[in-house]
Amino acid sequence: MRRLTWYSFVRLFHRIKDNLALVTSFRHLWKTNRPLVVLVGGMALLLALYTYLLLIIEGNYKERQKLLIAIRNMADGASLLNNQRTMHEHKERSSNFPIITMAPFPIDGDRIEWQPPDCEPRQNFAFVKVHKAGSTTAQSIFLRYGYVHNLTVMLPGGKNPASFSWPNLPSPGDAYPVSGGVYNILTHHARYHPETLRARMPPDTIRLAIMRHPLDHLKSMFNFIHLNTKYNLDPMNPIQNFLENLTDYAEIDSKFYDGRSPTRNFQSFVLGFDQMKDFGDEQIEQQFRDRTTEVPFVMILEHLDESLVVLKRLMCWVLTDILYDWTARNYRRFYYKSSSLSQLAIDNHHKWSSIDYALYEHYNRTLWEEVRKGGKDFVLELEHFRMMNSKVNEHCRIDPKGSRSFPATKWNAAWAVDAQFCRQLRQERFIWDWKLSMRQNEKIRRERLNP
Ligand SMILES: *[C@@H]1O[C@H](CO)[C@@H](O)[C@H](O)[C@H]1NC(C)=O
Ligand SMILES: *[C@@H]1O[C@H](CO)[C@@H](O)[C@H](O)[C@H]1NC(C)=O
Ligand SMILES: *[C@@H]1O[C@H](CO)[C@@H](O)[C@H](O)[C@H]1NC(C)=O
Repeated sequence: MRRLTWYSFVRLFHRIKDNLALVTSFRHLWKTNRPLVVLVGGMALLLALYTYLLLIIEGNYKERQKLLIAIRNMADGASLLNNQRTMHEHKERSSNFPIITMAPFPIDGDRIEWQPPDCEPRQNFAFVKVHKAGSTTAQSIFLRYGYVHNLTVMLPGGKNPASFSWPNLPSPGDAYPVSGGVYNILTHHARYHPETLRARMPPDTIRLAIMRHPLDHLKSMFNFIHLNTKYNLDPMNPIQNFLENLTDYAEIDSKFYDGRSPTRNFQSFVLGFDQMKDFGDEQIEQQFRDRTTEVPFVMILEHLDESLVVLKRLMCWVLTDILYDWTARNYRRFYYKSSSLSQLAIDNHHKWSSIDYALYEHYNRTLWEEVRKGGKDFVLELEHFRMMNSKVNEHCRIDPKGSRSFPATKWNAAWAVDAQFCRQLRQERFIWDWKLSMRQNEKIRRERLNP
Protein backbone atom coordinates (compact mmCIF):
# COMPACT_ATOMS: atom_id res chain seq x y z
CA MET A 1 0.00 0.00 0.00
CA ARG A 2 2.65 2.40 1.11
CA ARG A 3 4.95 1.38 -1.75
CA LEU A 4 2.13 1.72 -4.19
CA THR A 5 1.45 5.24 -3.01
CA TRP A 6 5.11 6.13 -3.23
CA TYR A 7 5.28 4.66 -6.72
CA SER A 8 2.18 6.61 -7.89
CA PHE A 9 3.66 9.77 -6.50
CA VAL A 10 6.84 9.27 -8.53
CA ARG A 11 4.75 8.57 -11.63
CA LEU A 12 2.71 11.69 -11.13
CA PHE A 13 5.87 13.72 -10.71
CA HIS A 14 7.25 12.42 -14.01
CA ARG A 15 3.98 13.04 -15.79
CA ILE A 16 3.94 16.66 -14.65
CA LYS A 17 7.53 17.04 -15.77
CA ASP A 18 6.70 15.60 -19.22
CA ASN A 19 3.66 17.79 -19.58
CA LEU A 20 5.70 20.84 -18.66
CA ALA A 21 8.16 19.89 -21.36
CA LEU A 22 5.29 19.49 -23.82
CA VAL A 23 3.92 22.88 -22.88
CA THR A 24 7.32 24.52 -23.27
CA SER A 25 7.83 22.78 -26.59
CA PHE A 26 4.38 24.03 -27.62
CA ARG A 27 5.45 27.48 -26.61
CA HIS A 28 8.55 27.00 -28.70
CA LEU A 29 6.46 25.84 -31.66
CA TRP A 30 4.09 28.82 -31.17
CA LYS A 31 7.04 31.18 -31.16
CA THR A 32 8.73 29.75 -34.23
CA ASN A 33 5.82 28.49 -36.30
CA ARG A 34 2.80 30.55 -35.46
CA PRO A 35 0.99 30.29 -38.88
CA LEU A 36 1.20 26.51 -38.85
CA VAL A 37 -0.20 26.28 -35.32
CA VAL A 38 -3.06 28.61 -36.22
CA LEU A 39 -3.85 26.59 -39.34
CA VAL A 40 -3.83 23.20 -37.64
CA GLY A 41 -5.70 24.50 -34.60
CA GLY A 42 -8.31 26.21 -36.78
CA MET A 43 -8.86 23.05 -38.84
CA ALA A 44 -9.31 20.99 -35.71
CA LEU A 45 -11.84 23.50 -34.43
CA LEU A 46 -13.77 23.49 -37.70
CA LEU A 47 -13.87 19.74 -37.73
CA ALA A 48 -15.23 19.68 -34.21
CA LEU A 49 -17.92 22.23 -35.10
CA TYR A 50 -18.89 20.35 -38.21
CA THR A 51 -19.24 17.09 -36.32
CA TYR A 52 -21.31 18.80 -33.68
CA LEU A 53 -23.66 20.32 -36.26
CA LEU A 54 -24.02 17.01 -38.03
CA LEU A 55 -25.01 15.39 -34.78
CA ILE A 56 -27.64 18.05 -34.11
CA ILE A 57 -29.10 17.87 -37.61
CA GLU A 58 -29.19 14.13 -37.47
CA GLY A 59 -30.95 14.22 -34.13
CA ASN A 60 -33.52 16.70 -35.41
CA TYR A 61 -34.02 14.74 -38.55
CA LYS A 62 -34.88 11.62 -36.57
CA GLU A 63 -37.26 13.65 -34.40
CA ARG A 64 -38.94 15.14 -37.44
CA GLN A 65 -39.33 11.76 -39.05
CA LYS A 66 -40.98 10.44 -35.90
CA LEU A 67 -43.34 13.44 -35.83
CA LEU A 68 -44.27 13.06 -39.51
CA ILE A 69 -45.01 9.41 -39.05
CA ALA A 70 -47.14 10.15 -36.01
CA ILE A 71 -49.09 12.86 -37.87
CA ARG A 72 -49.63 10.61 -40.86
CA ASN A 73 -50.90 7.86 -38.60
CA MET A 74 -53.28 10.27 -36.96
CA ALA A 75 -54.57 11.56 -40.29
CA ASP A 76 -54.98 8.04 -41.62
CA GLY A 77 -56.83 6.96 -38.57
CA ALA A 78 -59.90 8.74 -37.28
CA SER A 79 -58.57 12.19 -38.34
CA LEU A 80 -57.88 13.08 -34.78
CA LEU A 81 -56.90 16.65 -35.54
CA ASN A 82 -60.29 17.45 -37.01
CA ASN A 83 -62.02 15.84 -34.12
CA GLN A 84 -60.06 17.94 -31.70
CA ARG A 85 -61.10 21.13 -33.39
CA THR A 86 -64.78 20.31 -33.48
CA MET A 87 -64.66 19.23 -29.87
CA HIS A 88 -63.10 22.55 -29.01
CA GLU A 89 -65.74 24.45 -30.94
CA HIS A 90 -68.45 22.47 -29.30
CA LYS A 91 -67.05 23.28 -25.89
CA GLU A 92 -66.90 26.96 -26.79
CA ARG A 93 -70.44 27.01 -28.01
CA SER A 94 -71.83 25.25 -24.99
CA SER A 95 -69.89 27.05 -22.28
CA ASN A 96 -69.42 30.59 -23.55
CA PHE A 97 -72.91 31.92 -23.73
CA PRO A 98 -74.83 30.47 -20.84
CA ILE A 99 -76.28 33.87 -19.94
CA ILE A 100 -77.71 34.36 -23.40
CA THR A 101 -79.68 31.16 -23.27
CA MET A 102 -80.70 31.88 -19.71
CA ALA A 103 -81.58 35.53 -20.31
CA PRO A 104 -85.27 36.24 -19.77
CA PHE A 105 -86.27 36.75 -23.39
CA PRO A 106 -87.87 36.77 -25.86
CA ILE A 107 -90.06 39.22 -24.04
CA ASP A 108 -93.39 40.13 -25.56
CA GLY A 109 -92.54 38.12 -28.66
CA ASP A 110 -89.33 40.05 -29.40
CA ARG A 111 -87.12 38.46 -32.00
CA ILE A 112 -83.61 37.38 -31.17
CA GLU A 113 -81.85 38.64 -34.29
CA TRP A 114 -80.25 42.03 -34.22
CA GLN A 115 -82.13 45.00 -35.61
CA PRO A 116 -79.82 47.74 -36.81
CA PRO A 117 -80.99 51.06 -35.38
CA ASP A 118 -83.04 53.12 -37.84
CA CYS A 119 -81.13 56.30 -37.10
CA GLU A 120 -77.87 57.86 -38.27
CA PRO A 121 -74.95 57.58 -35.83
CA ARG A 122 -73.99 60.96 -34.39
CA GLN A 123 -70.32 61.51 -35.10
CA ASN A 124 -69.70 65.10 -34.08
CA PHE A 125 -69.24 65.49 -30.35
CA ALA A 126 -67.34 67.54 -27.80
CA PHE A 127 -66.57 65.78 -24.54
CA VAL A 128 -65.70 67.97 -21.57
CA LYS A 129 -63.01 65.90 -19.90
CA VAL A 130 -63.39 66.72 -16.22
CA HIS A 131 -60.23 65.84 -14.28
CA LYS A 132 -60.37 63.13 -11.62
CA ALA A 133 -63.82 61.96 -12.66
CA GLY A 134 -63.08 58.77 -14.59
CA SER A 135 -62.84 60.77 -17.77
CA THR A 136 -59.82 58.87 -19.07
CA THR A 137 -61.90 55.71 -19.43
CA ALA A 138 -64.53 57.67 -21.34
CA GLN A 139 -61.86 59.38 -23.43
CA SER A 140 -60.43 56.05 -24.54
CA ILE A 141 -63.88 55.04 -25.81
CA PHE A 142 -64.11 58.28 -27.79
CA LEU A 143 -60.60 58.06 -29.22
CA ARG A 144 -61.26 54.51 -30.38
CA TYR A 145 -64.55 55.59 -31.93
CA GLY A 146 -62.89 58.45 -33.78
CA TYR A 147 -60.04 56.34 -35.06
CA VAL A 148 -62.13 53.37 -36.17
CA HIS A 149 -64.66 55.60 -37.95
CA ASN A 150 -62.03 57.74 -39.68
CA LEU A 151 -63.15 60.91 -37.93
CA THR A 152 -61.10 64.04 -37.37
CA VAL A 153 -60.04 64.51 -33.76
CA MET A 154 -58.94 67.88 -32.39
CA LEU A 155 -55.39 67.36 -31.09
CA PRO A 156 -53.58 69.83 -28.82
CA GLY A 157 -50.84 71.65 -30.68
CA GLY A 158 -49.57 73.76 -27.80
CA LYS A 159 -47.10 73.10 -25.01
CA ASN A 160 -49.16 70.47 -23.24
CA PRO A 161 -49.96 67.48 -25.48
CA ALA A 162 -52.91 66.48 -23.27
CA SER A 163 -54.88 69.73 -23.19
CA PHE A 164 -55.93 72.94 -24.91
CA SER A 165 -54.49 75.93 -23.04
CA TRP A 166 -55.68 74.42 -19.73
CA PRO A 167 -56.43 75.93 -17.19
CA ASN A 168 -57.20 78.90 -19.42
CA LEU A 169 -59.92 78.81 -22.04
CA PRO A 170 -58.95 77.31 -25.41
CA SER A 171 -57.24 79.86 -27.60
CA PRO A 172 -56.73 80.20 -31.34
CA GLY A 173 -53.79 78.19 -32.59
CA ASP A 174 -53.70 75.67 -29.74
CA ALA A 175 -55.02 72.84 -31.94
CA TYR A 176 -53.23 71.00 -34.72
CA PRO A 177 -54.61 72.19 -38.05
CA VAL A 178 -56.52 69.64 -40.13
CA SER A 179 -57.73 69.48 -43.68
CA GLY A 180 -60.92 71.55 -43.93
CA GLY A 181 -60.31 73.12 -40.52
CA VAL A 182 -63.34 71.42 -38.93
CA TYR A 183 -63.10 68.74 -36.25
CA ASN A 184 -65.55 65.94 -35.52
CA ILE A 185 -64.35 65.15 -32.03
CA LEU A 186 -63.02 67.02 -29.02
CA THR A 187 -62.06 64.75 -26.12
CA HIS A 188 -58.81 66.16 -24.68
CA HIS A 189 -58.79 68.40 -21.62
CA ALA A 190 -60.29 71.78 -22.40
CA ARG A 191 -62.49 74.13 -20.44
CA TYR A 192 -65.96 74.26 -21.89
CA HIS A 193 -66.13 77.25 -24.21
CA PRO A 194 -69.14 77.50 -26.57
CA GLU A 195 -67.39 80.04 -28.85
CA THR A 196 -64.49 77.68 -29.51
CA LEU A 197 -66.85 74.81 -30.25
CA ARG A 198 -68.85 76.94 -32.66
CA ALA A 199 -65.69 78.09 -34.44
CA ARG A 200 -64.04 74.69 -34.81
CA MET A 201 -66.83 72.11 -34.93
CA PRO A 202 -69.96 71.46 -37.02
CA PRO A 203 -73.24 73.04 -35.82
CA ASP A 204 -74.81 69.68 -34.90
CA THR A 205 -72.00 68.82 -32.43
CA ILE A 206 -73.32 67.05 -29.32
CA ARG A 207 -71.82 68.29 -26.06
CA LEU A 208 -71.04 65.71 -23.41
CA ALA A 209 -69.23 65.54 -20.09
CA ILE A 210 -68.64 63.29 -17.09
CA MET A 211 -69.00 64.13 -13.40
CA ARG A 212 -68.67 62.34 -10.10
CA HIS A 213 -69.96 63.00 -6.61
CA PRO A 214 -68.35 66.28 -5.45
CA LEU A 215 -67.12 64.81 -2.17
CA ASP A 216 -65.35 61.91 -3.90
CA HIS A 217 -63.98 64.38 -6.37
CA LEU A 218 -62.57 66.46 -3.52
CA LYS A 219 -60.88 63.41 -1.99
CA SER A 220 -59.41 62.41 -5.31
CA MET A 221 -58.11 65.91 -5.92
CA PHE A 222 -56.62 66.04 -2.42
CA ASN A 223 -54.74 62.86 -3.05
CA PHE A 224 -53.71 63.81 -6.58
CA ILE A 225 -51.90 66.99 -5.61
CA HIS A 226 -51.12 66.00 -1.99
CA LEU A 227 -53.10 68.79 -0.38
CA ASN A 228 -53.05 67.01 2.99
CA THR A 229 -49.33 67.69 3.39
CA LYS A 230 -49.20 70.92 1.37
CA TYR A 231 -51.92 72.54 3.51
CA ASN A 232 -50.33 71.00 6.58
CA LEU A 233 -53.54 69.26 7.64
CA ASP A 234 -54.20 66.87 10.48
CA PRO A 235 -52.90 63.56 9.13
CA MET A 236 -55.61 61.58 10.94
CA ASN A 237 -58.47 63.05 8.91
CA PRO A 238 -57.18 65.75 6.56
CA ILE A 239 -60.44 66.21 4.64
CA GLN A 240 -62.44 66.82 7.81
CA ASN A 241 -59.76 69.12 9.16
CA PHE A 242 -59.89 71.12 5.93
CA LEU A 243 -63.68 71.26 5.64
CA GLU A 244 -64.26 72.20 9.26
CA ASN A 245 -61.84 75.12 9.02
CA LEU A 246 -62.48 76.34 5.49
CA THR A 247 -62.07 80.01 6.35
CA ASP A 248 -58.50 79.35 7.48
CA TYR A 249 -57.57 77.75 4.17
CA ALA A 250 -59.65 79.82 1.76
CA GLU A 251 -56.82 82.26 1.07
CA ILE A 252 -54.11 79.74 0.21
CA ASP A 253 -56.61 77.43 -1.53
CA SER A 254 -57.92 80.08 -3.89
CA LYS A 255 -54.61 80.32 -5.77
CA PHE A 256 -53.10 76.94 -5.19
CA TYR A 257 -53.69 75.25 -8.52
CA ASP A 258 -52.14 77.40 -11.25
CA GLY A 259 -53.78 80.43 -9.66
CA ARG A 260 -57.02 78.57 -9.12
CA SER A 261 -58.71 76.60 -6.39
CA PRO A 262 -58.26 72.85 -6.61
CA THR A 263 -61.21 72.20 -4.31
CA ARG A 264 -63.98 74.71 -4.88
CA ASN A 265 -66.51 74.02 -7.67
CA PHE A 266 -63.75 72.40 -9.64
CA GLN A 267 -65.95 70.33 -11.94
CA SER A 268 -68.09 73.38 -12.69
CA PHE A 269 -64.93 75.31 -13.45
CA VAL A 270 -64.06 72.78 -16.17
CA LEU A 271 -67.61 73.19 -17.44
CA GLY A 272 -66.95 76.92 -17.83
CA PHE A 273 -68.30 78.36 -14.56
CA ASP A 274 -66.67 80.88 -12.25
CA GLN A 275 -65.65 78.62 -9.39
CA MET A 276 -65.55 81.39 -6.76
CA LYS A 277 -69.29 82.07 -7.00
CA ASP A 278 -72.12 80.31 -5.20
CA PHE A 279 -75.21 78.71 -6.58
CA GLY A 280 -77.58 81.39 -5.21
CA ASP A 281 -75.95 83.98 -7.49
CA GLU A 282 -78.28 85.41 -10.17
CA GLN A 283 -75.71 85.23 -12.94
CA ILE A 284 -74.67 81.68 -12.00
CA GLU A 285 -78.26 80.47 -12.10
CA GLN A 286 -78.71 81.91 -15.58
CA GLN A 287 -75.48 80.24 -16.66
CA PHE A 288 -76.70 77.00 -15.09
CA ARG A 289 -79.87 77.09 -17.18
CA ASP A 290 -77.90 77.80 -20.36
CA ARG A 291 -75.32 75.12 -19.66
CA THR A 292 -77.80 72.38 -18.84
CA THR A 293 -79.61 73.15 -22.09
CA GLU A 294 -76.43 73.15 -24.20
CA VAL A 295 -75.09 70.03 -22.51
CA PRO A 296 -78.25 67.97 -22.00
CA PHE A 297 -76.47 64.75 -21.01
CA VAL A 298 -73.56 64.17 -18.66
CA MET A 299 -72.25 60.77 -17.68
CA ILE A 300 -72.07 59.97 -13.98
CA LEU A 301 -69.03 58.00 -12.87
CA GLU A 302 -70.91 56.22 -10.08
CA HIS A 303 -73.29 54.89 -12.75
CA LEU A 304 -70.88 54.49 -15.63
CA ASP A 305 -72.53 51.49 -17.32
CA GLU A 306 -75.98 53.10 -17.23
CA SER A 307 -74.42 56.29 -18.58
CA LEU A 308 -72.78 54.44 -21.46
CA VAL A 309 -75.96 52.69 -22.52
CA VAL A 310 -77.81 56.02 -22.44
CA LEU A 311 -74.93 57.50 -24.45
CA LYS A 312 -75.13 54.68 -27.00
CA ARG A 313 -78.85 55.28 -27.48
CA LEU A 314 -78.42 59.05 -27.64
CA MET A 315 -75.66 58.79 -30.24
CA CYS A 316 -77.25 55.94 -32.17
CA TRP A 317 -74.07 53.87 -31.79
CA VAL A 318 -73.73 50.11 -31.50
CA LEU A 319 -72.82 48.10 -28.46
CA THR A 320 -69.21 47.42 -29.47
CA ASP A 321 -68.60 51.17 -29.62
CA ILE A 322 -69.01 51.53 -25.86
CA LEU A 323 -67.01 48.52 -24.61
CA TYR A 324 -64.24 49.70 -22.33
CA ASP A 325 -61.15 48.47 -20.52
CA TRP A 326 -61.90 47.37 -16.99
CA THR A 327 -58.55 48.21 -15.48
CA ALA A 328 -59.63 51.62 -14.24
CA ARG A 329 -57.27 54.26 -15.48
CA ASN A 330 -55.52 56.32 -12.87
CA TYR A 331 -57.19 54.37 -10.08
CA ARG A 332 -55.59 55.30 -6.77
CA ARG A 333 -55.88 54.05 -3.24
CA PHE A 334 -55.17 56.36 -0.34
CA TYR A 335 -55.73 55.98 3.34
CA TYR A 336 -58.28 58.78 3.85
CA LYS A 337 -60.44 57.78 0.87
CA SER A 338 -63.05 56.30 3.16
CA SER A 339 -62.56 58.34 6.35
CA SER A 340 -65.89 59.28 7.87
CA LEU A 341 -66.76 62.97 7.98
CA SER A 342 -68.67 65.04 10.49
CA GLN A 343 -72.01 66.59 9.52
CA LEU A 344 -70.37 70.02 9.82
CA ALA A 345 -67.71 69.05 7.26
CA ILE A 346 -70.32 67.69 4.86
CA ASP A 347 -72.51 70.78 5.20
CA ASN A 348 -69.53 73.05 4.69
CA HIS A 349 -68.62 71.21 1.53
CA HIS A 350 -72.14 71.68 0.16
CA LYS A 351 -71.76 75.42 0.68
CA TRP A 352 -68.17 75.51 -0.57
CA SER A 353 -68.90 73.69 -3.85
CA SER A 354 -72.55 74.59 -4.30
CA ILE A 355 -72.39 74.82 -8.11
CA ASP A 356 -70.82 71.36 -8.33
CA TYR A 357 -73.57 69.89 -6.16
CA ALA A 358 -76.30 71.59 -8.19
CA LEU A 359 -74.88 70.34 -11.47
CA TYR A 360 -74.18 66.85 -10.20
CA GLU A 361 -77.67 66.45 -8.76
CA HIS A 362 -79.22 67.79 -11.95
CA TYR A 363 -77.30 65.42 -14.21
CA ASN A 364 -77.77 62.40 -11.99
CA ARG A 365 -81.49 63.10 -12.04
CA THR A 366 -81.64 63.44 -15.84
CA LEU A 367 -79.58 60.26 -16.25
CA TRP A 368 -82.03 58.27 -14.17
CA GLU A 369 -84.98 59.82 -15.99
CA GLU A 370 -83.52 58.40 -19.20
CA VAL A 371 -82.96 55.03 -17.56
CA ARG A 372 -86.55 54.96 -16.36
CA LYS A 373 -87.82 55.99 -19.80
CA GLY A 374 -85.94 53.03 -21.29
CA GLY A 375 -88.01 50.67 -19.15
CA LYS A 376 -87.50 46.94 -19.17
CA ASP A 377 -85.74 47.05 -22.53
CA PHE A 378 -83.08 49.31 -21.05
CA VAL A 379 -82.54 46.99 -18.11
CA LEU A 380 -82.04 44.02 -20.42
CA GLU A 381 -79.71 45.91 -22.69
CA LEU A 382 -77.68 47.10 -19.71
CA GLU A 383 -77.40 43.56 -18.42
CA HIS A 384 -76.30 42.36 -21.84
CA PHE A 385 -73.75 45.15 -22.13
CA ARG A 386 -72.23 44.30 -18.75
CA MET A 387 -72.04 40.63 -19.65
CA MET A 388 -70.43 41.32 -23.00
CA ASN A 389 -67.98 43.85 -21.55
CA SER A 390 -66.90 41.38 -18.90
CA LYS A 391 -66.43 38.61 -21.47
CA VAL A 392 -64.42 40.87 -23.76
CA ASN A 393 -62.25 42.06 -20.86
CA GLU A 394 -61.72 38.52 -19.70
CA HIS A 395 -60.83 37.38 -23.21
CA CYS A 396 -58.40 40.25 -23.75
CA ARG A 397 -56.69 39.55 -20.45
CA ILE A 398 -56.31 35.80 -20.94
CA ASP A 399 -55.83 35.52 -24.69
CA PRO A 400 -55.08 38.98 -26.09
CA LYS A 401 -53.74 37.62 -29.38
CA GLY A 402 -56.62 35.26 -30.04
CA SER A 403 -60.14 35.91 -31.18
CA ARG A 404 -63.55 35.04 -29.86
CA SER A 405 -66.87 35.36 -31.61
CA PHE A 406 -70.19 36.52 -30.25
CA PRO A 407 -73.46 35.56 -31.91
CA ALA A 408 -76.06 38.13 -32.89
CA THR A 409 -78.51 39.09 -30.16
CA LYS A 410 -81.26 41.64 -29.95
CA TRP A 411 -78.66 44.26 -29.02
CA ASN A 412 -75.64 43.46 -31.21
CA ALA A 413 -74.80 42.04 -34.62
CA ALA A 414 -72.66 38.90 -34.79
CA TRP A 415 -69.18 40.08 -33.85
CA ALA A 416 -65.70 38.81 -33.04
CA VAL A 417 -63.20 40.38 -30.70
CA ASP A 418 -59.67 40.02 -32.07
CA ALA A 419 -56.09 41.00 -31.27
CA GLN A 420 -56.55 44.44 -32.80
CA PHE A 421 -59.64 45.16 -30.73
CA CYS A 422 -57.91 44.01 -27.53
CA ARG A 423 -54.99 46.29 -28.27
CA GLN A 424 -57.25 49.23 -29.00
CA LEU A 425 -59.32 48.61 -25.90
CA ARG A 426 -56.42 49.49 -23.62
CA GLN A 427 -54.42 51.78 -25.86
CA GLU A 428 -53.04 54.84 -24.10
CA ARG A 429 -53.96 58.36 -25.13
CA PHE A 430 -50.52 59.27 -26.46
CA ILE A 431 -50.53 56.29 -28.83
CA TRP A 432 -53.94 57.35 -30.16
CA ASP A 433 -52.65 60.90 -30.50
CA TRP A 434 -49.69 59.69 -32.46
CA LYS A 435 -51.77 57.50 -34.80
CA LEU A 436 -54.39 60.17 -35.33
CA SER A 437 -51.85 62.89 -36.02
CA MET A 438 -50.06 60.68 -38.57
CA ARG A 439 -53.32 60.12 -40.38
CA GLN A 440 -54.50 63.71 -40.19
CA ASN A 441 -51.14 65.13 -41.30
CA GLU A 442 -50.99 62.66 -44.16
CA LYS A 443 -54.34 63.96 -45.37
CA ILE A 444 -53.09 67.55 -45.34
CA ARG A 445 -49.91 66.52 -47.14
CA ARG A 446 -51.83 64.71 -49.86
CA GLU A 447 -54.10 67.69 -50.36
CA ARG A 448 -51.14 70.02 -50.72
CA LEU A 449 -49.62 67.71 -53.35
CA ASN A 450 -52.83 67.43 -55.42
CA PRO A 451 -54.96 70.46 -54.63
C1 LIG B 1 -61.65 54.08 -42.83
O1 LIG B 1 -60.64 54.23 -43.81
C2 LIG B 1 -60.08 53.01 -44.23
C3 LIG B 1 -58.93 53.31 -45.15
O2 LIG B 1 -59.22 54.38 -46.02
C4 LIG B 1 -61.15 52.12 -44.85
O3 LIG B 1 -60.60 50.89 -45.24
C5 LIG B 1 -62.28 51.90 -43.85
O4 LIG B 1 -63.33 51.16 -44.42
C6 LIG B 1 -62.79 53.22 -43.33
N1 LIG B 1 -63.75 52.96 -42.26
C7 LIG B 1 -64.92 53.56 -42.15
C8 LIG B 1 -65.77 53.16 -41.00
O5 LIG B 1 -65.29 54.40 -42.95
C1 LIG C 1 -59.95 72.50 12.58
O1 LIG C 1 -60.76 71.33 12.63
C2 LIG C 1 -60.41 70.38 13.62
C3 LIG C 1 -61.34 69.19 13.48
O2 LIG C 1 -61.01 68.45 12.36
C4 LIG C 1 -60.46 71.00 14.98
O3 LIG C 1 -60.07 70.07 15.95
C5 LIG C 1 -59.54 72.21 15.01
O4 LIG C 1 -59.58 72.83 16.24
C6 LIG C 1 -59.94 73.21 13.94
N1 LIG C 1 -59.15 74.42 13.93
C7 LIG C 1 -57.90 74.59 13.48
C8 LIG C 1 -57.34 75.95 13.53
O5 LIG C 1 -57.25 73.66 13.01
C1 LIG D 1 -78.46 59.21 -8.57
O1 LIG D 1 -79.87 59.17 -8.59
C2 LIG D 1 -80.42 57.89 -8.34
C3 LIG D 1 -81.92 57.97 -8.58
O2 LIG D 1 -82.49 59.02 -7.90
C4 LIG D 1 -80.08 57.44 -6.97
O3 LIG D 1 -80.60 56.14 -6.72
C5 LIG D 1 -78.55 57.39 -6.85
O4 LIG D 1 -78.16 57.05 -5.55
C6 LIG D 1 -77.93 58.72 -7.26
N1 LIG D 1 -76.51 58.51 -7.33
C7 LIG D 1 -75.65 59.14 -6.55
C8 LIG D 1 -74.22 58.73 -6.70
O5 LIG D 1 -75.98 59.98 -5.76
